[in-house]
Amino acid sequence: MLSWDEEIVPAAPTAAPTRPLPAAMQASAFEQFQARNQGQQRQDLELGLVSTSKPEQVSEQDKARRVNAADKRIINGQTDVNQLVPFKYKWAWDKYLAGCANHWMPQEINMQRDIELWKNPNGLSEDERRLVKRNLGFFVTADSLAANNIVLGTYRHITAPECRQYLLRQAFEEAIHTHAYQYIVESLGLDEAEIFNAYNEVESIRDKDQFLIPFIDVLTNPEFKTGTTEADQTLLRSLIVFACLMEGLFFYVGFTQILALGRQNKMMGAAEQYQYILRDESMHCNFGIDLINTIKMENPHLWTAAFRDEIKSLFLRAVELEYRYAEDTMPRGVLGLNAPMFKGYLRFIANRRAQQIGLDVLFPAEENPFPWMSEMIDLKKERNFFETRVIEYQTGGALNWE
Ligand SMILES: [Fe+2]
Ligand SMILES: [Fe+2]
Repeated sequence: MLSWDEEIVPAAPTAAPTRPLPAAMQASAFEQFQARNQGQQRQDLELGLVSTSKPEQVSEQDKARRVNAADKRIINGQTDVNQLVPFKYKWAWDKYLAGCANHWMPQEINMQRDIELWKNPNGLSEDERRLVKRNLGFFVTADSLAANNIVLGTYRHITAPECRQYLLRQAFEEAIHTHAYQYIVESLGLDEAEIFNAYNEVESIRDKDQFLIPFIDVLTNPEFKTGTTEADQTLLRSLIVFACLMEGLFFYVGFTQILALGRQNKMMGAAEQYQYILRDESMHCNFGIDLINTIKMENPHLWTAAFRDEIKSLFLRAVELEYRYAEDTMPRGVLGLNAPMFKGYLRFIANRRAQQIGLDVLFPAEENPFPWMSEMIDLKKERNFFETRVIEYQTGGALNWE
C-alpha cells in the first residue's frame, strides 16, 4: 500500500557488486558503456533530438517577453498569462495553497446515521424533511451554476495567472460540492429528478437563480470582452453578484439550517459535508472580495456613484429573495429557527459584504442572531464539534492508492 504519509525516497541506484570486479573486466565494461552511449548520441543527432549548434543567444525581443510583476493587472493585463511567476498577487497564490491543503471528498464522510434517521418514520418532523429537501433543491444546482460561471465566464476575463490558478482550484471545489449534494440525495434515497429540477419547479429557488443567471450569461457570452469602462463595470458587477450575493449571501440560510440540524444531533453526516463546504465557500467569497477590491484599486474610474447605487440596489434585492427562500423553507418555526430570525441574519451578512467591498452598511445596527455560525466558519475551533472524525485536513492525508 502506498500511503501519502510514507516518506518518498529516490529510486535506489543500481546495486553495487558485493565484490570488486577484476580490473580487466571493469575496463571492458566501461568501454562497452562508452560505445553504447556514443551510439545513442549518434541516433539522437540523426533524429534531431539533440541540437548541434551552440546555445543560442536570446534575442532582446524574446527577453522582453519575460514578465515583470509590476506590469501584471487583474483585468486587461498585457503580460503573458502562461507565466505564473513572478508573483504579484500573493494573496491569490496563498489562497490556492490553502484550498489545496483543505482538500476533502464527500464519500469519506459516513452517512449511515443520516440514512437511518431519514428512513425512520419518527426520525424527523415533516417540517424538518421539507427543510432538507428544499435546502438540497437549491444547492444541487447552485454549485453547477458557480462552476460554469468560473470556467466559461470569469476565468477568461482575468489576466493575472495566480488568480486564474485559484479559479481552477475553486472550479474543482465546486465540482466536489455538487458531488457532496448528490451524495446526500443518493444516500437518503430522495427523488433525484425532483430535487435536481427544483430550480425550475420551486418558486423561491427559481427566483434566486433567475436573479443570478443574467450576471453569469453576460460573462459567458463569447462576444463579451473587457477593455471599455462599460464592459469592465459589467465584469465587476458580475463578480460582486457572484462573490458577495451568491456565495456570500444566498448560501447562508441553507448552511445555517443544515448546521442547526447537526447541532441537534440530526443529519450529522450531511452537516459535516456542509461544514466542509462552508469552509471552502468562505474562502471563495474572500477570494472574490480580494479580486473585486484589487480591480477597484487598479481601475478607480469604475467605482462611480451611479455604479455604487446600482450595487446597493442589487444587495437589497438579494436580501429580499433570500428572505423569501427562508420563509418558504420554514413556513413554521423549526429547530428553534424561524424565518424572521433570518431577516436579521441576512441583513447582518449583507452589511458585512457591503463593507468588505467599501460600501456603507445597508441596514444600520443589525446584530448577528446566530453567533455560532461565525465560529463554524473556522473549522479548527470546531474540530470536535460533531465528534465524528478528525477534520483538520491536509492534502490526501487520509487517502491511499488502494
Ligand atoms: Fe460551492
Ligand atoms: Fe463557491
